[in-house]
Amino acid sequence: MKTINTSIELEKAITLERKQGKTIGFVPTMGALHKGHYALLQKAREACDCVVCSIFVNPTQFNNSDDLKKYPRKIEKDIAFIDSLCDIIFLPSVEEMYPFPPTDTYDFGDLDKVMEGAFRPGHFNGVAMVVRRFFDMVKPDRAYFGKKDYQQAAIIKKLVGLKNYPIHIELVDTVRESDGLAFSSRNSLLSIEKRKEAPFIYQTLSQAEAFINNKQPQEIKQWVINRFKSNPHFELEYVEVVDAENLHILERIDPSRKGVICLAAWLDNVRLIDNIEFNN
Ligand code: PAJ
Repeated sequence: MKTINTSIELEKAITLERKQGKTIGFVPTMGALHKGHYALLQKAREACDCVVCSIFVNPTQFNNSDDLKKYPRKIEKDIAFIDSLCDIIFLPSVEEMYPFPPTDTYDFGDLDKVMEGAFRPGHFNGVAMVVRRFFDMVKPDRAYFGKKDYQQAAIIKKLVGLKNYPIHIELVDTVRESDGLAFSSRNSLLSIEKRKEAPFIYQTLSQAEAFINNKQPQEIKQWVINRFKSNPHFELEYVEVVDAENLHILERIDPSRKGVICLAAWLDNVRLIDNIEFNN
């Protein structure tokens, strides 16, 4: 495993791999790595000859400077954790990724007008800025993203279409702790006491999903809102029942179309997101 800090070095290393006819798999991350990231890397390892993982806390996707400041950083531990799965770990500086103040903007149509896009203005533009730069440097055959960030995955697919990248985007199921909590770098910010409350999120989503065949989306949404209101540990930011492809908010459930229930909630000043698919 090689660690690389500059785009020039990275491009050299990738060119070398390409000359040997190797396929490149890419997993972008912001570090504080856990079993969710690990699952993405395993998928890349299975399908590609050379696996590249980036670790970069991307400032342009944080719409809140406090959130950026307190984002967990564990670089030594991260490298040891993924060593056996990666050929190249890319650890760029902010200057390396953004040598000029970034000004690129993206039109994602309706995709970024709801949920994360609505509550975190500019967030997906920042994600697209950094992922575009990574794609241009790594030029992967395949790139791996988690369904945990369902809307982000849809945005990345749209970006690939907009820019005509010849990259296959592979989506990986959410990896959960044994009590149902989705692995997230932010989980480490929860106190031991509040961590015990966290499984409530997935329990609620699982119960909501069980209503899909006998309740309408608005009723399901209201049920989730009421359940969160009755739990003093949480503050629900949003819950939406949406189409899995275009993320349009559903008025009716169509059993022939895949959907997803997505939510964001605050626990112990930590913002957690999760979702559950239905009809899949
Ligand atoms: P980060 O939150 O580090 O996540 C990196 C990748 O891991 C994303 O594709 C995310 O969906 C996936 N992931 C996170 N938790 C997961 C879980 N429990 N199960 C499965 N996959 C999971 O997402 C980002 O970083 C950034 O926005 C990034 C794409 C790197 C751009 O900066």
